[in-house]
Amino acid sequence: MSAAPIIVRTEKALRAQISKWRLADHKIGYVPTMGALHDGHLSLITFARKHTERVVASIYVNPTQFAEGEDLATYPRQEKSDIRKLGGAGCDLVYIPKSGSMYDRDHSTQINVGGAALGLETDYRPHFFGGVALIVTKLFNRVQPDIAVFGKKDYQQFLTIRRMTTDFDIPVRVYGAPIIREKDGLAMSSRNLYFDADARLVAGQLNKIMRVCAKEIKNGSHIGTATAKAKRALLKSGFQSVDYVAAADRRNLSLLRGPIKDRKARLLIAATCAGVRLIDNCDI
Ligand code: PAF
Repeated sequence: MSAAPIIVRTEKALRAQISKWRLADHKIGYVPTMGALHDGHLSLITFARKHTERVVASIYVNPTQFAEGEDLATYPRQEKSDIRKLGGAGCDLVYIPKSGSMYDRDHSTQINVGGAALGLETDYRPHFFGGVALIVTKLFNRVQPDIAVFGKKDYQQFLTIRRMTTDFDIPVRVYGAPIIREKDGLAMSSRNLYFDADARLVAGQLNKIMRVCAKEIKNGSHIGTATAKAKRALLKSGFQSVDYVAAADRRNLSLLRGPIKDRKARLLIAATCAGVRLIDNCDI
């Protein structure tokens, strides 16, 4: 379980190793990441391991999902410790494409995502899901996995990728794995590394306020009333700004209003604390 994984940095070497496993009839599970790994990522490796004989992870900080002014340059890069953690979690191969090798100089094709990708994150980061769809499609084409696992912390991303995979007939089964949280409930995220001790205390309130809001809606509160209350609570507890607190249909993220009746709903939230934008979500 804890052997050092094979490291490949070129598409050619990746395809050669994948072909060997295919010849041996091994099913391949895949976890794409941007590195700076935490236990949330490692739980995705464990999830994949349960379904497939071989598990591949990739580490690539994808420029097309960052807008100007976002943290592409400063995004935490910790290759050595990431590889060690992946090996410990049972990952067989880590694909680390050289920067610049994913997108050809003349790359010109974009992906126009719809459905669950519309609204919420897209209202604040309009570039984001197009960039994610592009890199995930390219990585799926290179790795050619049987299954891929994404964390439900990025719930809108998970639904968007699952829809895109179906729409494009990509023969990969997309799974969403449960959110892994710190002791105080903060969802694990590579960007949590940015917090100092005071900001970290404030960040810990996000999940608590989200849970209270979800419970109120479940118990019959009007969605507008409960989400407005949650926004006020976030600002009062020290968040700088709140982008959204929204209840949506769990399968397609269409927004819900009024008291929910028999809908399977999800509460989604995005707020900024000490300059770090956090997202989280839970079932209602
Ligand atoms: O969730 C992430 O870490 C990224 O959006 C992903 C899926 C690896 C694509 O770059």
